[in-house]
Amino acid sequence: MLDLTATKVHDEARQGERFAPFKDDPNSYGKQFYIESYGCQMNFADSEVVAAILNKEGFGATRNVEDADLIFINTCSIREKAEQTVRKRLTDFKKLKTGKPGTLIGVLGCMAERLKSKFLEEEKLVDIVVGPDAYRSLPRLVSEANEGQKSVNVLLSREETYADIAPVRLNSNGVSAFVSIMRGCNNMCSFCVVPFTRGRERSRDAGSIINECRDLFDQGYKEVTLLGQNVDSYHYIPGNGTEANAVSFANLLEQVALISPELRVRFSTSHPKDITDDVLHTMAAYENICKCIHLPVQSGSTRILQLMNRTYTREWYMKKVDRIRELLPGCSITSDIIAGFCTETDQDHQDTLSIMDYSNYVYGYMFYYSERPGTLAQRRYQDDVPLEVKKQRLQEIIEKQNQLSLADYKKDIGQTCKVLIDGDSKRSSEQWVGRNSQNKVVIFPKLENGRHKKGDYVQVQINDCTQATLFGAII
Ligand code: SAH
Ligand code: SF4
Ligand code: F3S
Repeated sequence: MLDLTATKVHDEARQGERFAPFKDDPNSYGKQFYIESYGCQMNFADSEVVAAILNKEGFGATRNVEDADLIFINTCSIREKAEQTVRKRLTDFKKLKTGKPGTLIGVLGCMAERLKSKFLEEEKLVDIVVGPDAYRSLPRLVSEANEGQKSVNVLLSREETYADIAPVRLNSNGVSAFVSIMRGCNNMCSFCVVPFTRGRERSRDAGSIINECRDLFDQGYKEVTLLGQNVDSYHYIPGNGTEANAVSFANLLEQVALISPELRVRFSTSHPKDITDDVLHTMAAYENICKCIHLPVQSGSTRILQLMNRTYTREWYMKKVDRIRELLPGCSITSDIIAGFCTETDQDHQDTLSIMDYSNYVYGYMFYYSERPGTLAQRRYQDDVPLEVKKQRLQEIIEKQNQLSLADYKKDIGQTCKVLIDGDSKRSSEQWVGRNSQNKVVIFPKLENGRHKKGDYVQVQINDCTQATLFGAII
């Protein structure tokens, strides 16, 4: 499940939801767990680490919550609505537990970290609360909870990257997989709760990342997405090495791209202040590094960007867009935007609309500002834009993005692109759905001779579109 609070123009952009969640055969295990994930891709990736830890303890994954001995909800705190969604879902689980008393309910992820043991006070039927850096302690916490003890571990770590744990792929179609390359975030964007819920930034062992990607390719996967809150600040010094041996994000990207030209590489998220020319040159040098950069702007007003502590100006961001266009013609740029941040005026809002035009985003995730406890903005600034105004501005941003997306997709009509087949289209088993390098969803009829299968690359000529989908035919 996705972050349900996100307003999505391109609703298939965050993968995972489309695919059957569990591939393990639960019957081969004694007890069964069910896990439901909210929030960003990192949370989905973490659920796969949790699944690996639980599998090792003899728990199998089930997709029927009614069958589960252990119910986990991996939570998100990014906006108030994300937390409300979790609370609603918890009431369903609590009802289930009332009918089946032995069941344990565990809350994982960012909301667990934010609320800590308060969760147990507020939600009496919750048994286990575990923060994002404490999943290795799950087996112990589960056995304590089985003995009737409420268990909490929300310690954040400076080292934990789960580098040695091979994730059990829960949300995958067998074609594309997410690979965490770092955890935490050292930026202090004033609106954002992530530094508090995920702790300090740390980079995962480069060798373990490359091995994981190679294993995925050997298993038949054709696409990996390297994940981090700020991938461009990836920095890893192997073993007893020194700064001279440090692996940068550009180095890592190249090494993953070199695994095979048949393995596509994507990454998310890039902070505009950190993405380097080295990364752009590496992207240009390898056809299999997808030409799509998620470069969240948040606002188009320099004054608001300063209040947000984003550390770049409107002009600086525009120059970054120019540089991407120069070094990577045809690369798609996507964004996250917040409407109605503290003190935002109509002029600031107009600046956001105009930077959207300038950047020509292919799609975007758009939100209105939601004040989060403990953040700098909550402590220092007044959340003074009325809800109605926030909603109105968000609506205008969404409409602008819809126009930009449609105009951009229309330009693809008549063009040919290389598409990686993800599987059957939702609408019909006579059609394939896949994505091109720019991460645009492409739907096209299967050929009658059944020559292709999911995971194949095909050339597709585009003949029609909506604002979120391209339609075409294999050539
Ligand atoms: N690390 C990524 C973003 C992670 S959170 C980055 O730096 O871009 C995903 C998005 O949620 C953010 O880009 C932002 O647009 C939005 N967001 C974060 N905190 C928010 C808040 N308090 N209210 C509304 N949107 C928020
Ligand atoms: Fe939050 Fe900013 Fe870090 Fe992104 S870079 S996770 S928005 S603090
Ligand atoms: Fe949400 Fe935590 Fe991700 S707050 S967006 S799940 S890092």
